[in-house]
This record gives sequence, structure tokens and C-alpha cells, in this order.
Amino acid sequence: MSLLVLASLLSINCKKRGGNTPFFFIFLIYIYNMKKRYGSLINGLWVKHKKTFDVINPFDNSKILEIYDAEETGTLEAIKSSANAFKKWKKTSAEERSNYLKKFYLLVLKNKKSIAKIITRECGKPLRESLVEVEYGASFIEWSANQCLRNCGKIFESPEQTKRMFYIKEPVGVVAAITPWNFPLAMVTRKVCAALAAGCCVVLKPSELTPITALVLGELSIEAKFPKGIFNIVNGEPEVIGNILSKNPTVKKITFTGSTKVGKLLMKNSSKTIKNISLELGGNAPFIVFSDANIDLAIEGLINAKFRNAGQTCISANRIFLNKEIHEDFLIKLKNRLKKMRIGSGLKDCDIGPLISKQALEKVENHIQDALDKGAKIEFGGKLHKPNSLLFKPTILTNIKQNMLVFKNENFSPVVPILIFDNDKEVVEMANNTEYGLASYFFTTNPRRIWSLVGDLEYGMFGVNSGKISTYLNPFGGVKESGIGREGSLQTLEPFLETKFVNWNF
Ligand code: SIN
Repeated sequence: MSLLVLASLLSINCKKRGGNTPFFFIFLIYIYNMKKRYGSLINGLWVKHKKTFDVINPFDNSKILEIYDAEETGTLEAIKSSANAFKKWKKTSAEERSNYLKKFYLLVLKNKKSIAKIITRECGKPLRESLVEVEYGASFIEWSANQCLRNCGKIFESPEQTKRMFYIKEPVGVVAAITPWNFPLAMVTRKVCAALAAGCCVVLKPSELTPITALVLGELSIEAKFPKGIFNIVNGEPEVIGNILSKNPTVKKITFTGSTKVGKLLMKNSSKTIKNISLELGGNAPFIVFSDANIDLAIEGLINAKFRNAGQTCISANRIFLNKEIHEDFLIKLKNRLKKMRIGSGLKDCDIGPLISKQALEKVENHIQDALDKGAKIEFGGKLHKPNSLLFKPTILTNIKQNMLVFKNENFSPVVPILIFDNDKEVVEMANNTEYGLASYFFTTNPRRIWSLVGDLEYGMFGVNSGKISTYLNPFGGVKESGIGREGSLQTLEPFLETKFVNWNF
């Protein structure tokens, strides 16, 4: 009875705030059930700790849930649980591991709608995008389950008759996966499921801004009957937990998606015990439109590459380069397209949700002010959609120079800074003028140009006449200060494997 009363009361309260009543009712029941288990997932059990922290909905600043902070004690317990579980898990057959992952995959898809709503609540993205994220994230589980069956070493034709020479692949051991808030599900499954498929055990530290989705994945891993301890989850202060995970000698591998600043720190910490490390860090993606491009296609490409999650992705188009012959036409069409974009609650039918936090908003405002001070012009938007919110209007800035913050930094916002170029050499130089090298996009109908740009641009991934590059087939990752290693694709298990060579005299 008390559960129903609580749920109805809070759902009325939510309606007053413009929320979605039927969903909120179901969500509350879900969260109420979770109350028993919103601690850390350690050795297959939900463990409570002393301290808690709040998870906040960025759309209306309301508290969604309180989560236990694992602090040092909980994190060390999770590492121990992972190390114990590894003794058995590394000896399971590939088929066994694949079957657990297939079960997990089906459960994630079965709960697609409710998980998508949780993603939207905690990170603000439109529900349509959250549904796509669940499918995208699930595709990594299925892909890992399949690639698990293909893991193999190699036998060489020996140079000596009496010898056999070969190498085998083995799991690296305990893996610490540290994941970001902008894809609370997909970044978890891309790392965790590849690690489990390789035979590793995992301690996951999801972003403290969006831990609920990860906890739901933890719950589904219990339902999929994962052996105890192979998948552990700890939440809390990133500095405290990140420090322990990256310095602890039992942890053999760090896999991290997030900022270049934090990536460098983890790399430094990991060097003390020479950990294997994979980093998917910041980007500063160029988006180039040549005079021979299909402009309508390029506009739609930009909408995809720029406004997914309100511009808050590592592969978001960050600097837009337009050839001087088409820039006026492109600008008119882009403004018309942006007028149609709806800003608001991700749970309603919208195209752009809130930024993740006050700090994110301050960064956008600071970047725009810096650009204006150095001569930029606001062509569209440039301010909040609603006062005292985190809803920022899609924004176009022109007269952009290479010394502006919007050119140098990852903006993580719905801001479109535009530069005009004359020829290929000039645009390649400007596009490469950054320490980042994650994603890049260009639009042209000239095959010769496509081929030479893929060679000349210093990036790890390319969208050619397309603003979409995310798929489990993409070896996701970057060059320069955008990271080390790749995730997904044919080599998805590789970052979690060691190679052992045998020279056998028989
Ligand atoms: C990211 O922003 O870090 C990941 C984006 C993606 O996988 O599409």
C-alpha cells in the first residue's frame, strides 16, 4: 500500500513540474525496488556503505536517487572480488562466456524502454536518442559474445624440424573500466562485455553523474546469472576511486573514456605498476564541406554530428569549415533547419535536451564570450532557451579565428563555430591544427579528394558524406592526444588479452 501511495503522491508532484506521469509512476516503482540495492555490486551482491551522494536530473535539477559511495573500502573489496572470480572465470570455455553474454544481451533489449527512460532522466538526452543508445550498447554485448568464439592464437611453420612455435592469447586479469556520463549504457557495454568475453573480470566505475543505468545493468547481470564477482560496480568520487583503481597492483588493465586531462592522470598513475591501458579521450572534430558537396546531405550530416546529446559527445563536430563558394547557401539552410529544432525535456518529444551541469553551461558561456571578445559574431541562438535552466539554444558563431577557445577546445555543446576556407591545403592545415585526433567529417563528391583527405587528416575515424560513424564495426578511438587503442570492431577483445609465445623443442 505504502509503495502505491508514495508513487501516486510523487507522480502528482512530478506532473506539476511538467513530468511524464505514467512513466514516472513505473519509474518510481522501479527505483523503489532499487532502494534495496543502490549500493555497490560486489561479488554478486548489493553492498551498502557509510556515505551517499545524490543523482540529479539535469532537466529540472530534481534529485532522482541517492547512491552509496564505495570510497576506499568498497573499491578495495570490489578489486578483491574481481581477483577471486578471475581464478575461475579465466578457465571457462569461450562458449560458456559467450552464452552468459547472449543472455545479458536479451535482457537488456527486453528492458529497452525502461532503461532508455532512466538514461534520459539522468543525462538529459532525448528519449529517442536513449532508445538508440540502448540498441547501440546492446550491439556491443552481442558482438562481444560472437567475437569471444573467435579468439585464437597462431601456430607458426617452424624454421627447425624439432621445434613447434606458437602463441596463445590469455585474459590480462582484473580490469578497471571507468566510463563517462554522456553514454551511460553504451560506453559500459563496449568495455565491460569485451573484457568479460576475453576472460577478464571487471570493476566498473561509472560516472557519478549517471550511475543508475550502470546499476540497472548490474541488476540484469544478476538476472543473467553471471558468476559472482566477474562484474563489480563501485560508485563515488572519481578522484578517490580513480586513484585506487589506477594504482592498485591487482588491477592489470585500465580502460577509460573521458577527458584528456583525466586520461593523462590515469596514465601517470598506471605507470607505477606498468598497467595495460586503453584511453578514449577528447576530440575536436573538423566538419568540412567542399564546394562540390551535396549541401542538403551535409546539413543533415551536421545535425547528426553536432546535435546528438546536445553536442556532448567526444565525436561531435566541433569546428565547421565551409568552402567560400557555398558558405552563404549553407548558412541560410542551416539557420532554417535550426529554427525547427525543439528544445526541452528529453522525456517529451524534443531534439535538444539540457547540458549535463552548471559547469558545462559556464564553459559554453565562457567560450562564446571569448569568441565575441576576439571578433566572432552570433548568427543564431547564443543564449539559454529558458532562464535558470541548462537548456542552451543551438548556436551559430561566424568570424571564427584559430586563437579562439571554441577552435582550440572541445566545446561539448550545441554551438556551431564556422570558418571559411579557400582550398584543400588550407583546410587540411586548419583541421589538423589541434592536439586532438578522434573523429572528422567531410562532404565532397570527388573520390580522389576523399582518398587523399583520409591520408592527410590526422584522425582515427572518418564520416565521409555522413555525420554518423558509431557502430560496433567501428574500431573506435583516436590518434594524437585523443587516446590509445581501439574499442569494438574485429579487435574488440584485443585490449583485454596478453600474448604468450611458446618455443617447444619436442
Ligand atoms: C563518446 O562520446 O565518447 C562516444 C560516442 C560514440 O560511441 O558514439
